[in-house]
Amino acid sequence: MQGVILHGGQGTRLRPLTHTGPKQLIKIAGKPVSQWVLEQLRDSGIHDIIIILGDNNPNKVVEYYGDGSSFGVNITYVYQGKARGLADAVYKVKDLITDDKFLVYLGDNIVPYDRFPSFLSFKGSASILLAKVDNPNRFGVAVIKDGKVVKLVEKPKEKISDLALVGVYAFTKEIFDVIENLKPSWRGELEITDAIQGLIDRGREVDYRIIDGWWKDTGTPKDILEANSFLLDRYAERKIEGEVRESSIDGRVVIEEGALVENSTIRGPAFIGKGSKIVNSYIGPFTSIGDNCEVKNSEIEYSVILDNVKVDGVSMMDSLIGNNSNVVKGKRWVKLIIGENSRVEI
Ligand code: TTP
Repeated sequence: MQGVILHGGQGTRLRPLTHTGPKQLIKIAGKPVSQWVLEQLRDSGIHDIIIILGDNNPNKVVEYYGDGSSFGVNITYVYQGKARGLADAVYKVKDLITDDKFLVYLGDNIVPYDRFPSFLSFKGSASILLAKVDNPNRFGVAVIKDGKVVKLVEKPKEKISDLALVGVYAFTKEIFDVIENLKPSWRGELEITDAIQGLIDRGREVDYRIIDGWWKDTGTPKDILEANSFLLDRYAERKIEGEVRESSIDGRVVIEEGALVENSTIRGPAFIGKGSKIVNSYIGPFTSIGDNCEVKNSEIEYSVILDNVKVDGVSMMDSLIGNNSNVVKGKRWVKLIIGENSRVEI
């Protein structure tokens, strides 16, 4: 079985974090979002992975995953470059698909689902994963009739269906013929919903499965925080490999190798990455601290702190802090160096 992970896109809604690399490499609960995807595919038996690269530092993706052997998969890379749409990205694998059917998974989505082999045994030309939502006008939705998908509509103004497409699709090679004849949408992209609609318009059958519960497209900072909470809540197990001195570690807390927690309280679910130092501080539930961070005299709750970050004398919550940043309490005046599209609350 072949699984295709989309790793391109512009990531404009996550700037400035995406100025230095693709959003799919943002680490939450200890792993890049796309690694959660890759391991989920591997654990359901899909070991042949194709990663589609965009034009935002694609070398970082190749450096991180290599040939896939250290993750227990075989990876082939394909370069999409400029983000011309999901259907354009899917078309790039045309000459690499060896099976009758293949799976496509958006590399910035977290979709807890473990039945990919059965999802891939669909009848017809494609199958889509759907989830019931309260606000269908914000999603692409599918209209179902007699057990088949009859229509897809992007962000419908009227309530024609409450079943939204989540970021996982299964296709036969027929999808490539449709994409060849597709016209760009108003936003200049080749849309995957138009491609699937193209199959329906040609009289082909499109199957579907409905998933229960939570899933997330991690396109915005708020989504990253929600995904972090979900992943910590679901997967964090108490594992203390680092050193703990005169501290209280409550509940499901991961403290990775080489980390040091001193004179602090950590309340799970929480994650402290390799080589990080937490001193005289409180780390509250639903917080992920990356690798090689230094947190002193601070309180942090419900936040994602990426790698090599220094925090000193600060109380923060609902925060997302990029790699190599310093967050330090000043004496009286606030001193700020802030990238574009930032938001600061003091
Ligand atoms: P989006 O989140 O819809 O697009 P984006 O990444 O450009 O983000 P923004 O709107 O904030 O600028 O993309 C969904 C997923 O598909 C995501 O994992 C990126 C990937 N993608 C590609 O690989 N190639 C593409 O051409 C596009 C548009 C997206």
